[in-house]
Amino acid sequence: MNLKAAHRIGKVEEYYFSRKLKEIKLRIKNGEDIVNLGIGSPDMDPASSIVNATSEALEMPGNHAYQSYIGSEELREAMANWYYRFFNVELDIDHQVLPLMGSKEGIMHISMAFLNPDDKVLIPDPGYPTYAAVAKMMHADVVMYDLLEENNWQPDFEALEQMDLSKVKLMWVNYPNMPTGADATTALFERLVKFGKDHHILIVNDNPYSFILNDNPRSIMQIEGAQSTAIELNSLSKSFNMAGWRIGMVVGSDKILKHILNVKSNMDSGMFLPIQAGAIAALSLGEEWFNQLNEIYRKRRIWAFKILDCIDCSYDAKCVGMFVWAKTKVGNAEQLSEELLNKAGIFITPGSVFGSNGDEYLRISLCTPDKMLIRSLEKLKNAGYGC
Ligand SMILES: Cc1ncc(COP(=O)(O)O)c(C=O)c1O
Repeated sequence: MNLKAAHRIGKVEEYYFSRKLKEIKLRIKNGEDIVNLGIGSPDMDPASSIVNATSEALEMPGNHAYQSYIGSEELREAMANWYYRFFNVELDIDHQVLPLMGSKEGIMHISMAFLNPDDKVLIPDPGYPTYAAVAKMMHADVVMYDLLEENNWQPDFEALEQMDLSKVKLMWVNYPNMPTGADATTALFERLVKFGKDHHILIVNDNPYSFILNDNPRSIMQIEGAQSTAIELNSLSKSFNMAGWRIGMVVGSDKILKHILNVKSNMDSGMFLPIQAGAIAALSLGEEWFNQLNEIYRKRRIWAFKILDCIDCSYDAKCVGMFVWAKTKVGNAEQLSEELLNKAGIFITPGSVFGSNGDEYLRISLCTPDKMLIRSLEKLKNAGYGC
C-alpha cells in the first residue's frame, strides 16, 4: 500500500535533536568517545519529597483511573500558589490555570485552538524550533521576527509595527530567552502587552527558564491588563529536574484558556494522579531548592565559559537559563560544531538550529556534570585547541 502522509506532515522535518542524537548514539556505539554538550534535559534528580509523594500515591488504591481534564483541584491550587509566591500573580484556580503535559504540549494545543490556515504567526529568530514547526502543521503563515544581539535579543517593535499585522493572530515570545540567555525586563513585558492590545494579537510567553541562574524571576502576567492579550506557559521540566515527567501549565484568562481546554480535552484523558502528587510536592518547595540547584549550574557555567574561551567564542557572562550562547569568531558555527565533533569528540549545538540569526553562534547546555565539562576541556586541548 502506498500510504501518503498528510500534507501537514510534509511541512515539517524530524526534529533536529532527534536526528542528531541518533547520529551521536550510533557513533558512540561504534566506539567513538563523544561528550554531548547539546541537549537541554536536566541530568540531576528531582527532590526526594517529589519522588516519595509520587510513590505513596502510586501505592494507594483507586489512583489508577482516568483523571480530570483540568487536573485535580489540589494541583491547580499548588500551581496558583506557586505563581503567587514567586511572581505575586493571583490566579483563580477554576478558570485561570490549566495543567498541561509539558509546555511543548501547550504549544500544540494553543496553535490548534487559535490558528486557521493562512493566519500569520510571529515567531522569534532565533527561537525554540517547535513554534514554527507547529505553526506549519496548522498551515499557518510563519513570520519570523529578528532577535539581535545589538538589541539585547529583544524584538524591534518599530520594525514589527512597520509590517502589515492585520492577519497576525499570535506571537510567540520566550523570556528568559532560549537559546540566547537574555533575561526579561518589566519594560519588555509592558511593551509586549501594549503591542498585543494595539494589534489584537495573542501574546504567548513561554517561560520555562525563569528559575535557572536568574536572580529576578518574572512573569508577563505581572503586567497590568496582561490577561486581555497574553497567556503564559510554564513548566516543571527545568525548574524541578522533571523533564521526563511531562508537567507544565498555561495561565491566563478563562476566555482564552477555555479554547485550549477544548482541544486538550479531546486529546488526552487527564494526567496520571501520582504524577500530579509529585508535581504538588515540587511546587511546594521553597527558595532553598532553587539556591542549591543554581549553585551547581553556576559552577558548571564557569567550565562552559572556559570551553568557549578555548575555542575563541564570546559570550555574556550574565546569561540566564540552562545554556550559554556564544558568538564564534569564524562566522559559520555549523562548520565549527561539526569540526568540534569530528576533531575533539564534543558535540555543541550550532545556533542555526534556532534560526538564521543563530548562524554565528553556538549553544552549550549546562545539563552536564562538571567532570564531563572538564573532560571536554581536556579533549579540546588534546585536539590542539588553545586552552
Ligand atoms: C523554550 C522552550 N519551550 C518549551 C520547551 C518544552 O518544555 P517542556 O518540557 O515543558 O515541554 C523547551 C524545552 O527544551 C524550551 O526550551
